[in-house]
This record gives sequence, C-alpha cells and structure tokens, in this order.
Amino acid sequence: MFAPALTILAFFGTLGFCKVYENVADLPSLQYDFVIVGGGTAGNVVASRLTEDSSVSVLVLEAGPSNQGVLAAQVPFLSIEVSDTGTPYSWNYTTTPQTGADGHVFDYLRGYLLGGCSSHNGMAYTRGAEADFDRYANLTGDEGWSWNQIFPYFLKNEKWTAPADNHNTQGQYNPAVHGTDGPISVSVSGFSWSEFEQRVIQTTKELPDDFPFNLDMNSGKPLGIGWFQYTIGHGERSSSATGYLTPEIIQRPNLDVLLHAQVSKLVNVTQSRALPIEPITFQGVQFRYGTSLFVAKASKEIILSAGAIGTPQILLNSGIGDRTALNALGIPTVLNLPSVGKNVSEHAYSGVSWAVNSNQTVESITQNITRYNEAFAEWNRSHTGPFVDPSAGTHAGWLRLNASSPLFKIHPDPSPGPDAPHFEMLLQPSAFAGTPGHFISFTMAMVSPVSRGSVTLSSNDPFAAPLIDLGFLSSEFDALALAEGIKLALKFASAPAWNHDGYLGAPTVDIAAMTPAELTAHVRANSGPGYHIVGTAGMSPRGAQYGVVDPDLKVKGIAGLRVIDASVVPIVPGAHTQAVTYVVAERGADLVKQTWN
Ligand SMILES: Cc1cc2nc3c(=O)[nH]c(=O)nc-3n(C[C@H](O)[C@H](O)[C@H](O)COP(=O)(O)OP(=O)(O)OC[C@H]3O[C@@H](n4cnc5c(N)ncnc54)[C@H](O)[C@@H]3O)c2cc1C
Ligand SMILES: *[C@@H]1O[C@H](CO)[C@@H](O)[C@H](O)[C@H]1NC(C)=O
Ligand SMILES: *[C@@H]1O[C@H](CO)[C@@H](O)[C@H](O)[C@H]1NC(C)=O
Ligand SMILES: *[C@@H]1O[C@H](CO)[C@@H](O)[C@H](O)[C@H]1NC(C)=O
Ligand SMILES: *[C@@H]1O[C@H](CO)[C@@H](O)[C@H](O)[C@H]1NC(C)=O
Ligand SMILES: *[C@@H]1O[C@H](CO)[C@@H](O)[C@H](O)[C@H]1NC(C)=O
Ligand SMILES: *[C@@H]1O[C@H](CO)[C@@H](O)[C@H](O)[C@H]1NC(C)=O
Ligand SMILES: *[C@@H]1O[C@H](CO)[C@@H](O)[C@H](O)[C@H]1NC(C)=O
Ligand SMILES: *[C@@H]1O[C@H](CO)[C@@H](O)[C@H](O)[C@H]1NC(C)=O
Repeated sequence: MFAPALTILAFFGTLGFCKVYENVADLPSLQYDFVIVGGGTAGNVVASRLTEDSSVSVLVLEAGPSNQGVLAAQVPFLSIEVSDTGTPYSWNYTTTPQTGADGHVFDYLRGYLLGGCSSHNGMAYTRGAEADFDRYANLTGDEGWSWNQIFPYFLKNEKWTAPADNHNTQGQYNPAVHGTDGPISVSVSGFSWSEFEQRVIQTTKELPDDFPFNLDMNSGKPLGIGWFQYTIGHGERSSSATGYLTPEIIQRPNLDVLLHAQVSKLVNVTQSRALPIEPITFQGVQFRYGTSLFVAKASKEIILSAGAIGTPQILLNSGIGDRTALNALGIPTVLNLPSVGKNVSEHAYSGVSWAVNSNQTVESITQNITRYNEAFAEWNRSHTGPFVDPSAGTHAGWLRLNASSPLFKIHPDPSPGPDAPHFEMLLQPSAFAGTPGHFISFTMAMVSPVSRGSVTLSSNDPFAAPLIDLGFLSSEFDALALAEGIKLALKFASAPAWNHDGYLGAPTVDIAAMTPAELTAHVRANSGPGYHIVGTAGMSPRGAQYGVVDPDLKVKGIAGLRVIDASVVPIVPGAHTQAVTYVVAERGADLVKQTWN
C-alpha cells in the first residue's frame, strides 16, 4: 500500500525534491509505520534514527514552519529575535499568574518551527550531573537511564567542533568526555571577551574554595566554574533540524515531514478484549492543516514528541488524564491517568548586574548601531566575530548550598547528590537591561527546585492554548535558596580580580544592603523561568500507581503509543535541558527499534 508512494518519492528524490512538505496535498500518503507528532528537538532525532532502517516508513507532523532561511535561527547572536513571543516562530504561550512571583504572568517561550526549541534556544550545552541520571535510574527502576549507560548516547549525539575563531582550546574542556562523530556540533565560545574571561579565571584562583575551576562541566561532575559549551558549529546554530534532518537524511524515501500540521488528538481507538494488559490502541492522529482536519494512521506506533507542553495537551485532548478534570471539560475519559500534565519542574533565574569601567561588553555592540552592523557583516562574510555566540556568557558556575545550611531544616536536600548543583551562575559580559552603559552579570539560578507545577487544559477546544502553571518559586525553600545563591554571586564579585583596578562599578540594584526578608522579596519580584520545563509525562517504574510512561517510554495502559521528549524526564536536571532531551531521544529511538526488530 505504501510501496507506490515510495517509488514516486525516490523519483522526486533524484530531482532534488525536498521532502519537507509545505502542503498537505503533496503528502504521498496518510498511512505510515510510525507517526511522530512534533518535529522538535527530540522528534527529529527519532525520525532520523528510525529511518536508518529503510524498511520502515515515518511521518513527522510539525505545527510550525520550516527553519530554512530563518536567519535569526542560524546566527547565534540573534537567537532572542527568533525565540521571543510575537515572532512567527513562537507558540506565544503565557503562564498562569505565578503566586511565588508576586502573581506575575510570564511569557513562556516554545519553538514553533522545525527543530522546535533547538532551533531557537540559547544553545547552552550542559548535560547535568551523574547523580541526575542515577536518580532517573532509581526513580524508574531502569539502569538504562543511569549516567554510565546514558553516557554513550551523549557521545552519539555530539560532534565536538573547533570554535569559530580557532583559538587554542587546551585547558578549556576535556576531550575525553566528548563525541566527535554525532549530528550536533558543540564548541566553546568562538569570540573572545578576553578582559572579562581573564577576570573569571583569576577569581577561580583567588577564591578556589567557593569557586574552583572545573575543566569540563559536562564530565558528570559539574561543580565549579568552567568554560561554557554551546550547540554551535562554525559560527552557526546546530539544531535537531540542521543536524538530524540534513538534506541527505531528508531525501530518504521512507521519511516524510509535513509542516503547518497541528495535531489535536489521538483517534480511532480500539479496545481489544484479547489483550487485557494493554487493551487500548489508537490507530490515528487527527491534525489540522489550514482549516481542514485530517487523520494520519500509524500501523506500528504513534510517538508523541510535541514537547513538555504539547505532549500532555494532546494526551488530555485524547481522554488520557485525570478523569475528574476531563469530566469537568466534557471530554470522555479513555484512560484515567492522573499524572498527565503534573509534576512540572523548572528553574528560576535572577540577574545580578554591575556597571563596569570598560567598554569591552556586549553593550558595545547592542548599543552601537555602527558596531552592530559591522559585526553582522563580519558574520555574514566569514562566520567570525561576536555574532558567532549568543550573549549567554563565556563561563558558568555550578554551585551548592553549604551542607550545614539551615535551609535543610525547612526541606531535605532536593539535589540528587553531593556532586550535583543547587545553583547555576551564568557569567556574562552584559546585562539584559536596556540601560545605556556597560555592564556585567552573574545571573543566578536555582536548579534543584522543590516546587512543582502543571499543564492542564483551558477548554475542550483541542487547539486552545493550555494552562501552564510552573509552580514558580511556590516552595519557600526555592525562594530562600535562590536568595542564598545571590549571596554567592556577590561573593564572586568580591574577588580582587574584579576590584583591584576599579573595573567593577556600582551594582544595578544594591542587593548587599538588603535584609534577608528584602532579599527574598527581591527574588520573588525579579526572577524569571529558564524555559527548562520537564516532567509532564514522567517516567515511573512499570506497574507504579503514578507516572505516565514506563521506563521504555510506552504510555501506561496503552499499546502502540510512546512519548519521546522532555516530558518524560521525571525531575529537571541541574542543567539546561536540551542535552537531556537529546539523550532521551537517542535512547528512545533505540527502544523503539528493539521492540520492532
Ligand atoms: C527560549 C529558550 C531558550 C532555551 N535555552 C536553552 C539552552 O540554552 N540550552 C539548553 O540546553 N536548553 C535550552 N532550552 C530548553 C530546551 O531547548 C528544551 O528543553 C528542549 O529543546 C525541549 O525539546 P522537546 O523535544 O521536548 O520539545 P520541542 O523542542 O519544543 O519540540 C516540540 C515540537 O513539537 C511541535 N508541536 C507542539 N505541539 C504540537 C502539535 N499539537 N502538533 C504538531 N506539532 C506540535 C512544536 O512546534 C515543536 O517543534 C531553552 C528553551 C527555550 C524555549
Ligand atoms: C505567535 O504570534 C506571531 C505574531 O502574531 C504569529 O506570527 C505566530 O503565528 C503566533 N504563533 C502561533 C503558534 O500562533
Ligand atoms: C532508590 O533509592 C532508594 C534510597 O537509596 C533505595 O531504597 C531504593 O531501593 C532505590 N530503588 C531502586 C529501584 O534502585
Ligand atoms: C478515524 O477517526 C476519524 C476522526 O475521528 C474518523 O473520521 C474516521 O472515520 C475514523 N476511521 C476509522 C476507520 O475508524
Ligand atoms: C511526581 O513524581 C514523583 C517522583 O519524582 C512521584 O513520587 C509523584 O507521585 C509524582 N506525582 C504525580 C502527581 O505524578
Ligand atoms: C573603548 O574605549 C577606548 C578608550 O578607553 C577607546 O579608545 C575605544 O575607541 C573604545 N572602543 C569602543 C568600541 O567603544
Ligand atoms: C561605535 O562603533 C564604532 C565602530 O566600531 C566606533 O568607531 C565608535 O567609536 C563606537 N561608538 C561609541 C560611542 O563607542
Ligand atoms: C550577506 O551576504 C550576502 C552575500 O553572501 C549579501 O547578498 C548580503 O547583502 C549580505 N547581507 C548583509 C546585511 O551584509
Ligand atoms: C558556605 O560557608 C562558607 C564558609 O562559611 C562561606 O564562605 C560560603 O559563602 C557559604 N556558601 C553558601 C552557599 O552559603
């Protein structure tokens, strides 16, 4: 049934016909072995790996447009222009009012284009701690999620790449922990802010007890201060769209990608009495293209890769979720699975900035149109200069509360172990404020949150935006801990490296003068999310009374349905979340292959 379509496609393939379809009418079939919902960070990995076997057919349905030709998705320095709400490449979500942040409603950024968030994110490449993954193994009862067993998937995903300026990287990373043949390019910064960088390194020498230098924060032992790594190669963003859907892979006759196709729900449910253990099967997914609805059918599996917001929304739209909540919206329950959309965990970031007596800051570009245009022209000409990096910083630190901290009387240590961080400190030669002048920031994040939130439906319209409650700083522990973290940023800035020659000027906010209560209030009023949401279709042990998927990523109680994206990660790691998403997808693809071999 699929074979004739294959022949036609192979023919077009030789003509260089691109098989990322813009129009549903061009799609050769609506019947595939696998239908993947969402061509995002994880979805493209799965599509790419499954179609390595030429005998299986795969359709990817992506709601957004192509990443091709989107300059801001290519030029690292311009990433904010593609990620912000109101661009054609954003889902334009907002959160519910966050009581832990004085009722603030945040824009909640999600990529709405091929590659998903990997096409618009900040490109920071951070894997997390060994203990994060060992905790996943413990929480799922599957050693396959442990650091040691996941480590080969980090290498498989990664292609370590020389930075754009080809500077000597010795002493800036550990080659022994990096992959060299994978689809995603990773490198250290390719443009030097040398005055700032030298002061960072000098601080690690002056205050080594609190801020030791760490050669490679991606070794599984992240604590300390190290050179930041980015998913950037040769001055360009590397995403799941550029890395896993290369022109060669796109030409595979067994792979089709349809853009502008937004999935509403799973359809064509059957309940087989012959299989009492996994009685429910959905044969198709319904999607909207333009104003019409279509159904694509999967004979082997439907794989949800719509991300930590899209995936629980589709499950809930399909009647898989908390029965009471579904009843309230008039959605018939197919399977009562109360954990769907629950257990959101996310990081909270709070900036700490100072004016500096120097013009070697990112403001020298963002506040000078001549320099900005020169920098862009340089990128355009030779993929060099400051536009080869995002402005997220040259280094980061991964830090802990003291073991004796009184905060542990409020709540037991939420971090997965003594070698895992409570805090991230982003070290940037810039500030986000539009204030004229030159600034640096030591942005602090609480990365082992106690707080949990949820993604729920706002209505029974499957295309309406869901309610996103991050539970942001809803735990008192998280707010108090972040306040302690900010004190660490002040301590970092107290090193002679910043002060011996009058480099460091006034802080933009006089945090040092605040009482503890004022500092906690400041944290609640001046923090924002990291866009690192996970957990909304969390893994749990087979047979557990909670959780959404088994450790093999199959949805509990349903046959032929898997979730492969950030939703399955049970607790946010002490890291930005694209690397964990990539390894979930790489292992997930192997688990699918094992089922059908
Ligand atoms: C602004 C921003 C900055 C970030 N910075 C970093 C960073 O610097 N480093 C880092 O490691 N992580 C970062 N992250 C987080 C990281 O990018 C994400 O955790 C990760 O990419 C999530 O991958 P995913 O596959 O789960 O989801 P996504 O990549 O979001 O993929 C989901 C895909 O499904 C599509 N989709 C959703 N719903 C539907 C539907 N109903 N029908 C069809 N398609 C649908 C979406 O359009 C999208 O393409 C950032 C995130 C954001 C938003
Ligand atoms: C977000 O808003 C922009 C600007 O209005 C629009 O182009 C884009 O399509 C919107 N995204 C979605 C998913 O509707
Ligand atoms: C998880 O860790 C707890 C506490 O150390 C231990 O009791 C339990 O047996 C572990 N579970 C698994 C499945 O490893
Ligand atoms: C599959 O579901 C769609 C949407 O609900 C419906 O229109 C179609 O008739 C169903 N097909 C079969 C074979 O059940
Ligand atoms: C959330 O995850 C934890 C394990 O991390 C689990 O104990 C708890 O039951 C989960 N809650 C829900 C609502 O799924
Ligand atoms: C930076 O400041 C120096 C003097 O301190 C000046 O000579 C130089 O032109 C400035 N450069 C930029 C890019 O503003
Ligand atoms: C702006 O940039 C140009 C080009 O680099 C430089 O000559 C000029 O001095 C800069 N202006 C200021 C105010 O720094
Ligand atoms: C970028 O380079 C191309 C040629 O490679 C040129 O056509 C274009 O005008 C350049 N854009 C800018 C802004 O310099
Ligand atoms: C931990 O204690 C040491 C020594 O008292 C102090 O220097 C450091 O700042 C403390 N760290 C935190 C996170 O409170």
